[in-house]
Amino acid sequence: MSGEQLVHSERRRARPSREGIVRPDGSNRLNVLGISASPRRSGNTAVLIEEVLAGARTEGAEAELFSLAGKDIRPCDGCNACFKTGSCHIDDDMAAVYEKMAVADGIIFGTPVYFYGMPAQLKALIDRTYAPPPGGGRMTNKVGGIVVAAGSVGVVDVVKDLYFYFAVKRMLPGGWLGAYATGKGDIQGMTGALEAAHELGREIVQMAAQGFQFPRGFRRAHFAYGTHTH
Ligand SMILES: Cc1cc2nc3c(=O)[nH]c(=O)nc-3n(C[C@H](O)[C@H](O)[C@H](O)COP(=O)(O)O)c2cc1C
Repeated sequence: MSGEQLVHSERRRARPSREGIVRPDGSNRLNVLGISASPRRSGNTAVLIEEVLAGARTEGAEAELFSLAGKDIRPCDGCNACFKTGSCHIDDDMAAVYEKMAVADGIIFGTPVYFYGMPAQLKALIDRTYAPPPGGGRMTNKVGGIVVAAGSVGVVDVVKDLYFYFAVKRMLPGGWLGAYATGKGDIQGMTGALEAAHELGREIVQMAAQGFQFPRGFRRAHFAYGTHTH
C-alpha cells in the first residue's frame, strides 16, 4: 500500500467515531438504520437498502435493516396526547422501529412507489414521528438517505416528500437514488444502481461523521403562518 493510500485508509477508519457519542453498549461507532417500506421482504427495495448498509459497514459503521413487511404500524389518530405525555398511546410495532431511529446517526428510507407516491406503510411511520422519539431524542441532525424502487413513474414524487420530511425534522439531506424494476428481485442485475447504493451508504456515514448540528434556539422555519398559527 502506498503512503497516500495508507493515509486515506487511516482517515477512513478514524471518521466513523463521533466524539462525545457513547452508545449504551459502550461503543462510539456510528449507526445507520435502513427502513424498508416494501411489503415484499426480499424485493427490490430491500436489495437496494442492503447495498446501502453494506456501503455503510465498509466505513466502519454499524448498520441494520428494519423491514416494515408484516409489521403493524397504525396511522396517527391525531389525539395529540403525545404532546402531554411525550409518547404515543398506540401499542404496535412503531415503538420498535422508533427506538432504532432515535439512536441512529443516519437513516436510509427505502420504498417502492405505490400509486405515484409512497406506500401507506411509510406514510403511517412518518406521521407517527409526530410523537417525540423515545429517550428524549430528536430526529434533528440525523443524516437521511433515500432509495426508491419503481416500475415506471413516481420516483421524484416520493423523493420530494421525503426531502421535505428531512427539512421539517431538521435532518441532513443525504443522497437519493431511484431504480426501475418491477418483478421481485429484478433489481439484482442492475449493477449501476447497486454500486450507487453502496456509495450512498458510504456517503451517509461520512456525512454523519462530520457531526454537523443545527443551531438551537430558533423558531421552526417551516410553518405557514395565518392558518392555525399566528
Ligand atoms: C399497489 C402498487 C402500486 C404501484 N404503483 C406504482 C406507481 O405508481 N409507479 C411505479 O412506477 N410503480 C408502481 N408499482 C410498482 C412497484 O413500485 C415496483 O414493482 C417496485 O419495484 C416494488 O418494489 P419492491 O420489490 O421493493 O416491493 C406499484 C406496485 C404496487 C403493488
